[in-house]
Amino acid sequence: MPFPESFLQELVERNEISDVVSGYVRLTKRSGANLFGLCPFHNEKTPSFSVSPEKQIYHCFGCGKGGGVINFIMEIENLSYPDAIRFLAQRAGIVVPEDDRDETASRRARMLKLLREAARFFYDELCAPSGEAGREYLARRGISGAMVKRFGLGFAPDSWDSLLKAMSTRGYSQAELSAAGLIKASQKGGGAYDTFRNRLMFPVIDVRGSVVAFSGRILGDGEPKYLNSPETLVFSKSRNLFGLNLAKKSKKGYIILVEGNIDVVALHQAGFESAVASLGTSLTPEQARLISNYTSDVIIAYDADDAGLKAAQRAISILDKLDVKVRVLRMSGAKDPDEYIQKFGAAAFDNLISRSENHIEYRLAAVTGKYELSTDEGRVSFLREAVDFIAALPNTVEREVYSLRVAELGGVSEETIKREVERLRKKKAAASKKQYERALSRPVRAAQPKQRAIRYKNERSAKAEEGVLALLYLNPELFLKTKLAGEEFSEPILGKLYDELLAQTLRGGRPQISLLAEKFSADEISLFTQLIERPLETGRSLQALQNYIDIIRSENLVRITGEQPESDESIARYWEQRKEQMISDDKGYGGRENG
Ligand code: GTP
Ligand code: MN
Repeated sequence: MPFPESFLQELVERNEISDVVSGYVRLTKRSGANLFGLCPFHNEKTPSFSVSPEKQIYHCFGCGKGGGVINFIMEIENLSYPDAIRFLAQRAGIVVPEDDRDETASRRARMLKLLREAARFFYDELCAPSGEAGREYLARRGISGAMVKRFGLGFAPDSWDSLLKAMSTRGYSQAELSAAGLIKASQKGGGAYDTFRNRLMFPVIDVRGSVVAFSGRILGDGEPKYLNSPETLVFSKSRNLFGLNLAKKSKKGYIILVEGNIDVVALHQAGFESAVASLGTSLTPEQARLISNYTSDVIIAYDADDAGLKAAQRAISILDKLDVKVRVLRMSGAKDPDEYIQKFGAAAFDNLISRSENHIEYRLAAVTGKYELSTDEGRVSFLREAVDFIAALPNTVEREVYSLRVAELGGVSEETIKREVERLRKKKAAASKKQYERALSRPVRAAQPKQRAIRYKNERSAKAEEGVLALLYLNPELFLKTKLAGEEFSEPILGKLYDELLAQTLRGGRPQISLLAEKFSADEISLFTQLIERPLETGRSLQALQNYIDIIRSENLVRITGEQPESDESIARYWEQRKEQMISDDKGYGGRENG
């Protein structure tokens, strides 16, 4: 059932685009009527992602993505159209008219119930006499009974079907167990077996307190060390963090981000109840956003190895895009927080936290560590990279402070560093301005390498069709005077857009890109957004519109009647005649003057 138009209108109005986008992107620059920031859809260092509050659209000049607010949420939250609508409705505090999600809702509810019962089952198994192996492992890792309770840890027995049997007797079907990721079909057909066997079980609990998945660690050595639930109706690995259900209640004011589940448990046990772990993968932008809902101060305490170092750099660059202060904790003498606390105790870890460096220090230390500063050659290379690094810092004070630091490290004057930094910044600013201007002047399709699929069959007509759409979007009152129909267009997709915008206008609204999300694909919406993002000469719009329509109609006529357009030769001949005519007219005119 589609959502009613009036509801959608209100939804879009109550979710102002720059407001919504700034929840994800720091819009730092203003250029004309547009706001700019770093594109969340591709990696970049200079902002080419624009938001137009006036047109209520976003558009990236770099990757070509664009559209309205609904489609932005679909894209960034990875939601379907109806889910994006619900998301925005919730954000704006408006009620969604009853839709057909009841069935999905009840399936979700039942899956959550099943997962909770499975967690209970694993917990009971850990406490049962047969859970000896699990309890022994916990004791070896120094995990207390209190932590078992707090996290709801459990044990999956060393059997092929104990969970399957237990849940079947409770009335859950194999299909339900399988959809929840708890059992797998056996290769030979027919049977099914438990996904988690002989593992220490960590329930993944979302911020609402529902068990949404499991992470199971093997007891002792073996592969894979951790097994996670697959993606399901209720679980997305990239949108959940282990321990966040507890960390969000912490009064610490900061969140500690670690790599391992065991680290989370060990930290909580030592009193650091704001520790969370991303589920195996490195931190995702969605997880970062989730964290930023609860704190603006993140301490990264990843493993003290190369992989941990790299993962920390990635996490920093993701968190950096949000308004989050990032510090990095550096451990020595232990490979991870768990081991550190076992060896040196909670007070020592607390000391590490208070000495943790802000991420600029941390990254600068990484640059410094790469070069031999005792040689001239090493110093030159170091200075080059360090200046580059400082020039990219957004904050003036930070640039000042670190210029001084780098000057000292490299043995040159502070003035030299500052001069170099400024020179580099000017160069970068000029380059990004040029890039922006070039993007503006580029024809629509050329700016969209990924959309080569949309290739115009009739270039001449399509250009005119693009022109019509752009003009009408900006001057919707002209729609009512234009007796053009989408079917006259040479490009069906442009024709469909035209009809849709016309229908929106006839219903009495302003045409809105935001409302296209249901019927058009992301690529199509991006194409259209680019079209209307290009600067338009609005002075002679009526004349321009008429010219466009003439072109569209004449090309359409050719298509209908099957007439070939004039050959180059005949056009040439025509112009020859016209020229002669003009010349003879001239003569005649002159003649009269003479006479
Ligand atoms: P211990 O080795 O027991 O201290 O575990 P840990 O929790 O500290 O894990 P480790 O530092 O080795 O790995 C960090 C995180 O990466 C784990 O908590 C898992 O989420 C994930 N991980 C590690 N190994 C695997 C694996 O084999 N498969 C998957 N899916 N994830 C893994
Ligand atoms: Mn570990």
